[in-house]
Amino acid sequence: MNILKLTFVLTAMALSSVSAIAQKGFKEVKPGEIWPDDKNEHIQAHGGGIIKRGNTYYWFGEDRRKNNLVNTRYVGCYSSKDLVNWKFRGQVFKASTLEGIREGTLILERPKVFYNEKNRKYVMYMHLDSAKYKFARVGVAVSDKVDGEYKFVKSFRPLGLESRDIGQFIDDDGSAYLVFESRPTKGFYIAKLSDDYMDVEKQVAFISAPLEGGAIVHYGGLYYAIGSALTSWNPNPNKYATATSLAGPWSEFKDIAPPETNTYSSQSTMMIKVAGTKGTTVVFMADQWKPKTHWDSRYLWMPLEIGNGKLWLPKPQPWMLNVKTGEWKNSNAKK
Ligand code: DGJ
Repeated sequence: MNILKLTFVLTAMALSSVSAIAQKGFKEVKPGEIWPDDKNEHIQAHGGGIIKRGNTYYWFGEDRRKNNLVNTRYVGCYSSKDLVNWKFRGQVFKASTLEGIREGTLILERPKVFYNEKNRKYVMYMHLDSAKYKFARVGVAVSDKVDGEYKFVKSFRPLGLESRDIGQFIDDDGSAYLVFESRPTKGFYIAKLSDDYMDVEKQVAFISAPLEGGAIVHYGGLYYAIGSALTSWNPNPNKYATATSLAGPWSEFKDIAPPETNTYSSQSTMMIKVAGTKGTTVVFMADQWKPKTHWDSRYLWMPLEIGNGKLWLPKPQPWMLNVKTGEWKNSNAKK
């Protein structure tokens, strides 16, 4: 090897190790692609929600894998320390009939799990329905362990109201809220859970707007709520509103992305705030539904541009997250 070649090789090696150091602690998310778990299977946690216990995140959602029994609905659970590499913890709840709903017509969507510090129970809320979405209730199931098995307790209409899509919000003081969509009045209810989380105790706000897929985050002294229009499995322009207090008043809703992209073909399910040693990233978690091949539905996770009352979903592209520092960057950024 001549001296020129040797210099070139050494420089390339030095540069690649610099970039390896720059990437340290960062893990890559690829929005819209197959997202393999520790068993190399596409994650099944659609319409999901995430809680953090200690330094571990748990992701719950609809498990719609292809070889599930056709007449049974499943909730999947995954754990991760970095929000990117997920270990499959199992199908932690399953049912083919509940509350007298005929087998084959049971609908169980958007499960969300809350951990109750007082009674040390994991309490799962789910949208429970019958064919044509007429039942419109929440179901509640409980477990002593995060990864189940969850035992069904009851179903009810929160505050006596029809409830379809649900979302969860845990405020900075630990208070737990259920967000639920009300079709008759068109809008989101934000309701506080009872002390033991087994009931929906009181209405905190009603946000009047024909939206579902409700997601809330508290960031920089403001509450931000995102919702999607009522277009079944088809994507639409998701919108956001803000308020200084959960109780409102809430602002008008505005687009979170160029409307013609239909939120880059996705629908909101949650926002997760990752606060680290150097910053805070708010990640938009959404589903790219494939109603004919549900098992292949994808996840669109992207850090939001958020602050001072503005919220914007950048064009999805591979990105990297460091949960320790709370920082993110585009995968193709130099450092
Ligand atoms: C949109 C909801 O957000 C989904 O969870 C699901 O209920 C579909 N509608 C059903 O059409």
